[in-house]
Amino acid sequence: LIEELKGTEGGHLAVSVASTVHYFAIRLLADFCRRYPKVKVRFKVTNRKGLLQQLDDNEADIVLMGQPPEDQDLVAEAFMVNPLVMVAAANHPLAGKKSIPLSELSQETFLMREKGSGTRDAVERFLAEKGVQISASMEMNTNSAIKQGVEEGLGLGIVSIHTVERELEDGRIVVLDVESFPIMRQWYIVHRAGKRLSAVAREFEAFVRTEAERFVKSDIIKAALVGKQSSPAL
Ligand code: PGA
Repeated sequence: LIEELKGTEGGHLAVSVASTVHYFAIRLLADFCRRYPKVKVRFKVTNRKGLLQQLDDNEADIVLMGQPPEDQDLVAEAFMVNPLVMVAAANHPLAGKKSIPLSELSQETFLMREKGSGTRDAVERFLAEKGVQISASMEMNTNSAIKQGVEEGLGLGIVSIHTVERELEDGRIVVLDVESFPIMRQWYIVHRAGKRLSAVAREFEAFVRTEAERFVKSDIIKAALVGKQSSPAL
């Protein structure tokens, strides 16, 4: 047991997270490091495709991401909901409109994440399932670019609500009240099956499971989701 504690005291931790997760994951990590100041951390941020590759290459102890595929030999546990919302500039004509039908959006331009992004994947599956065609889209490979693009009026975005907490708080962008939104997803904590996790990695896993929700601004998120009907999990 003493060895275990020593491991937690001064061990190494390799955490990789989805680009969409890093907004709250860094708050979470900061708190973990205050608790265990001697732990040496390697923190990587990439999209879903990159994370699956890292798991395959055994590069990370722990990965925080959307639902991993079932055909990869992984241990995955959902730890928090991840609602995908449609956002617009605060002065967009659709801002404040109630129950916007999906059919009304066919002429809008959408700022979409790159191929390989879990968010992009979920949005595409959702649109296909609803039979919605998007006429114009622009591709951007970071959530930050999408947020800024939305703010500047380039188009609408479909993003994890966790990426826009600050902008919603400031009122720079707004969540649109669109039929079937939000698209409900989950965040998963993942490691390779059969991997021997270090004491630090196990401690971090337990920390994420019990503490993650404290690091999202739940009042902002609740306010943005109030009265919205959500579609089944994707
Ligand atoms: P991503 O997020 O869009 O940044 O790849 C991962 C996911 O949602 O699975």
